[in-house]
Amino acid sequence: MSSLLEGRTAIVTGAGRGIGRAHALELARHGAAVVVNDFGVSLSGEGTGESPAEAVVAEIEAAGGRAVVNGADVADFEQAAAMVEQAITTYGGLDILVNNAGFVRDRMLVNTAEEEWDAVIRVHLKGHFAPLRHAGAYWRAESKEGRQRAARVINTSSGAGLQGSVGQTTYSAAKGGIAAMTLVAAQEMGRYGVTVNAIAPVARTRMTEGAFDTSAMALPEDNSPIVAWLASAEAGDVTGRVIEIDGGRVTVELGWRHGPALDLGRRWEAAEVGPALRELLAAGPAPEPVYGA
Ligand SMILES: NC(=O)c1ccc[n+]([C@@H]2O[C@H](COP(=O)([O-])OP(=O)(O)OC[C@H]3O[C@@H](n4cnc5c(N)ncnc54)[C@H](O)[C@@H]3O)[C@@H](O)[C@H]2O)c1
Repeated sequence: MSSLLEGRTAIVTGAGRGIGRAHALELARHGAAVVVNDFGVSLSGEGTGESPAEAVVAEIEAAGGRAVVNGADVADFEQAAAMVEQAITTYGGLDILVNNAGFVRDRMLVNTAEEEWDAVIRVHLKGHFAPLRHAGAYWRAESKEGRQRAARVINTSSGAGLQGSVGQTTYSAAKGGIAAMTLVAAQEMGRYGVTVNAIAPVARTRMTEGAFDTSAMALPEDNSPIVAWLASAEAGDVTGRVIEIDGGRVTVELGWRHGPALDLGRRWEAAEVGPALRELLAAGPAPEPVYGA
């Protein structure tokens, strides 16, 4: 067992399966005590009555690590608060929050039902916001009491949210929102010792197995060493960044930037816009292709 995360406490959401499970095992292997959260839902978010987090806790304990089950729905504001509280009361504090839980209901935009939109936006966006909101308030309070922690948040975006993905309008909107939330949270929480970054993972899980040819796809555990390092005290100078991980390849995502601009110093006439805007568009790099386009 390494000591990279020795003495630190982590919450990993959606850690009963797939990528979250791999993160929980990796963080525990590096010495963190882990709250293994999972609501036990199906790929499309329906209840299954399963508690996959229990098996992950058993696996961590069998390897000599420390872990505890949490069954919260992370998008429920009160349950998210109780999850943060569980970490603090069980292990005496919280240092690391890995927001990972989520599900998909893939549809073309024009076929998307209102409840599909609401469910996917809720689980990803509110499911990131609620734990971050409660953990952030705890870290602010600790900082004000003179007990600033080297706190680390790792959110989970997606190539779908950064480059876009055909057939995943809602999911892409949610994952793009998570990238933007990461930028703002990093700025707001830095003064309390908190870094906030996001990963855009790739892995063969039940989420991708139904949608793509996954035979050559990266494994869930390929993502987790990067999360373990970002979660360490060593990573205090890295914040507000989005990192894509695909097997052994790590890519810094550069996101929206100001590109070519023209300032007339007065309001534009509609007739002037076409030629000028086309020139500006041609002067900048072409957008990256949307996945599936
Ligand atoms: N697999 C990929 O290639 C890929 C790519 C980009 C992003 N992601 C993102 O990575 C994360 C993990 O995906 P995965 O592929 O491991 O999926 P997965 O379905 O294997 O695991 C997700 C887990 O989250 C849990 N969960 C769902 N809703 C929950 C809720 N409200 N509260 C608590 N737990 C909940 C599920 O029960 C499940 O165990 C997701 O946010 C996903 O969008 C995955």
